[in-house]
Amino acid sequence: TPSPLIDRFARRITYLRLSLTDRCDLRCAYCMPERMTFLPRAEVLTLEELHEVALAFIARGVRKIRLTGGEPLVRRDMMQLVRALGRKIEDGSLDELTLTTNGTRLAEFADDLAAAGVKRINVSLDTMDRTKFAELTRRDSLPQVLEGIAAAKAAGIRIKLNAVALKGINEHELPDLIAWAHGEGHSVTLIEVMPLGEVEGDRFDHYLPLDAVRRDLESRWTLTASDARTGGPARYVDIAETGGRLGFITPLTGNFCEGCNRVRVTATGQLFMCLGGEGKVDLRAALRSESPEAALEEAFARAMGEKPEKHGFVIDRPGAAPALARHMSMTGG
Ligand code: GTP
Ligand code: 5AD
Ligand code: SF4
Repeated sequence: TPSPLIDRFARRITYLRLSLTDRCDLRCAYCMPERMTFLPRAEVLTLEELHEVALAFIARGVRKIRLTGGEPLVRRDMMQLVRALGRKIEDGSLDELTLTTNGTRLAEFADDLAAAGVKRINVSLDTMDRTKFAELTRRDSLPQVLEGIAAAKAAGIRIKLNAVALKGINEHELPDLIAWAHGEGHSVTLIEVMPLGEVEGDRFDHYLPLDAVRRDLESRWTLTASDARTGGPARYVDIAETGGRLGFITPLTGNFCEGCNRVRVTATGQLFMCLGGEGKVDLRAALRSESPEAALEEAFARAMGEKPEKHGFVIDRPGAAPALARHMSMTGG
């Protein structure tokens, strides 16, 4: 019988981040180079295999699944998987099915997602300035993203906007972004940029520690620490003046790994035990082996024995190589 997923530090894994594709229709400068090399399609798991992976995690105690990319909505057939996993919510074997999306195709899918049981999504949005958005993502897609967010809201899906805080790019715009989002009824989470994968620029130039952002916000608004948790690394405050909630994800200035409850699986079925490590276990090989059940059980045991205590991300000097060669788009964060 499947064993629950508990690592060497007695952390229980209840949250799976499942990447449907490494492809993306944007090219955020902190995430990817303009000429990104994507995986050959033949390497990517079928939807049926992704479903089997998800079921294997559910059988071992995972209660929350987040679909990621690349951009999950660029995978044409993904709604089939969302529907299949939505049934796991209905039958009580899963608490939450959600996704992290860049929003460009959200208008098309919002109603279907809501009908399948998706109640909440995270949408990446670093700037509301069309010119800046086009520079940062290298695609002029802000209007589609805003349409997508509006469509999700109309479909009754709760929305959290993710903004990577970037010095000299969106730092002075963050209060406006937060005020707008809260006015629309959305939460916001600010994220410190992480050193994964080579990009054209130096992340040091744009790295903005969130303690500085927080002080700036505290000089305008009343921030009250909240006990709210969403199962991810964000720690939240409520803002009296805007009536909304704001999260901080601080991998650099405030390590949150002690309470880690998650692992990620790439679109090729590689189980990464930590966002900040190279360690992985090949679930695709296990799935395609002669006795998948036994092979999966062995693979999960190995993974739990190897999950690292924490990441070692630092951004402390110009010109440093990224901590990891792997891009964020392999795991969708
Ligand atoms: P909620 O369910 O709303 O809590 O979402 P989440 O924060 O778990 O997921 P999301 O996809 O919105 O991720 C937001 C940011 O947090 C991304 O930049 C992720 O890379 C980052 N993140 C999520 N989990 C981890 C983690 O375990 N370690 C690190 N270093 N970053 C993480
Ligand atoms: N550092 C921090 N966040 C990143 N994201 C993508 N690349 C990075 C990075 N290098 C964010 C995206 C998205 C989330 C999944 O991760 O903007 O909101
Ligand atoms: Fe694509 Fe997301 Fe990376 Fe932006 S952050 S390039 S939307 S994978």
